[in-house]
Amino acid sequence: MKIEPVHHEPAVHADGRVQGDGRLQGVGRWADESVWAGTRAPLAESTGLPPQMYTDEGFFAAERSRLFERSWVAVGNAAEVAVPGRLLVRRVGGRSIIITRDQTGVLRGFVNSCRHRGTELAATDCEVGNTIRCPYHRWGYGLDGSLQSTPFFEEIPRDGFDRGDFGLVEVRVDTWGLLLFACVDAATPPLREWLGDLPDRMGGYGFEHWRVQSEATFEVRANWKLITENFQEYYHLSWVHPELAKVSRVADHYRYQGPGMYCGQTTTPVSGDDRDDWLVLPPAAGLNQSDLVSGRFVAVFPNVMLAVLPNHVFLIRLEPVAPGLTRERCTFLLPPSTPEVSDEDMAQTRSFWFDVNNEDIDIVERGQRGVAAGAVVPGPLAPRFEEPLHRFHNMVADTMTCDCPSDIAIPGGDDDSEAARLGSGLNPCPPEFDLDIRVSAR
Ligand code: FES
Ligand SMILES: [Fe+2]
Repeated sequence: MKIEPVHHEPAVHADGRVQGDGRLQGVGRWADESVWAGTRAPLAESTGLPPQMYTDEGFFAAERSRLFERSWVAVGNAAEVAVPGRLLVRRVGGRSIIITRDQTGVLRGFVNSCRHRGTELAATDCEVGNTIRCPYHRWGYGLDGSLQSTPFFEEIPRDGFDRGDFGLVEVRVDTWGLLLFACVDAATPPLREWLGDLPDRMGGYGFEHWRVQSEATFEVRANWKLITENFQEYYHLSWVHPELAKVSRVADHYRYQGPGMYCGQTTTPVSGDDRDDWLVLPPAAGLNQSDLVSGRFVAVFPNVMLAVLPNHVFLIRLEPVAPGLTRERCTFLLPPSTPEVSDEDMAQTRSFWFDVNNEDIDIVERGQRGVAAGAVVPGPLAPRFEEPLHRFHNMVADTMTCDCPSDIAIPGGDDDSEAARLGSGLNPCPPEFDLDIRVSAR
């Protein structure tokens, strides 16, 4: 069926005026459903986000408080806080939080602010021993957040003062596999609900046992949404990544989306020709046949992108810095069955990904320049390839418009009736594919 683009009344006009009476300022403007009309339309009638959502300082500020401060945000790797007394300092939206393990090994998160006069407790990741101590007047907190010491404070006692009332303010922290998440809004559903079927769907990999091999950081002159949108569609594959397209063929892509705050696709089989840059390391032991021959590409809302191959994971965590600037924290993970590898062993895999990533960075920076300079009315999404963007845009719209994060609509899974046309389906593993040829023989 041929799908014709449908013209919508633009949510934001080319000159920057919002439909109706709005100016592009203030949180309230962006919480109004009318701004999201092109996103709320059905896929075949939907449009991309207005350019101001990638460039406007006011939108960026609103997004920080309404989206990032009401979502489960990935803030690092669980291995970074493996032992009590190790303290991480991370930013979630506009909030600074600290994360540690208490003496019993329980993961703990707190607002990075002293309960005396609010001073920042830690400026950078550090070791604190048994006590989190404020640098100002030396109030001391246990690793469980309880207020333990208040120097000289009781020399003139205050009526009714009880240290038990002044513990650090807790922030929820949780893990999935090696990923460490934090959420600063108590009303947001728990992480397990947020992730939906993803932990089960990807349970066969046993990510909690994988290890960090190496890390790298990139600064990208583009809005964080452009980066994750680019990751979610393979429409650009043939033109932006001609080398990648040889091993990861457009025709071998399928959707990979169940219920949960994520967008996903799979490539099955993972390697379409003899070139094997991303398969030089041995596959993880114990994978089922589908995982063994597939690449899983999953963007967990809002800020994580996972490229899961049978033998390694390339993980990107996004930290928005400004509307047009994002820090990418990249991590390579290896399965426990792979012996220690040298940087040399890893070089081919790393350079493969860095080439692909550089191609993506070039195109998203160009995308940013275009939306900044053009400010044109957003165009139609391609239903064949860009359904995950539609799903993602609706998650953005939901978090920006909902009154309470307990009302965020966690999307359902792919519609099976669309499977043939859109290449969806759970864990496809074409029966005709000869498993021995490309992966298990390595
Ligand atoms: S502000 Fe922390 S002890 Fe005074
Ligand atoms: Fe790409």
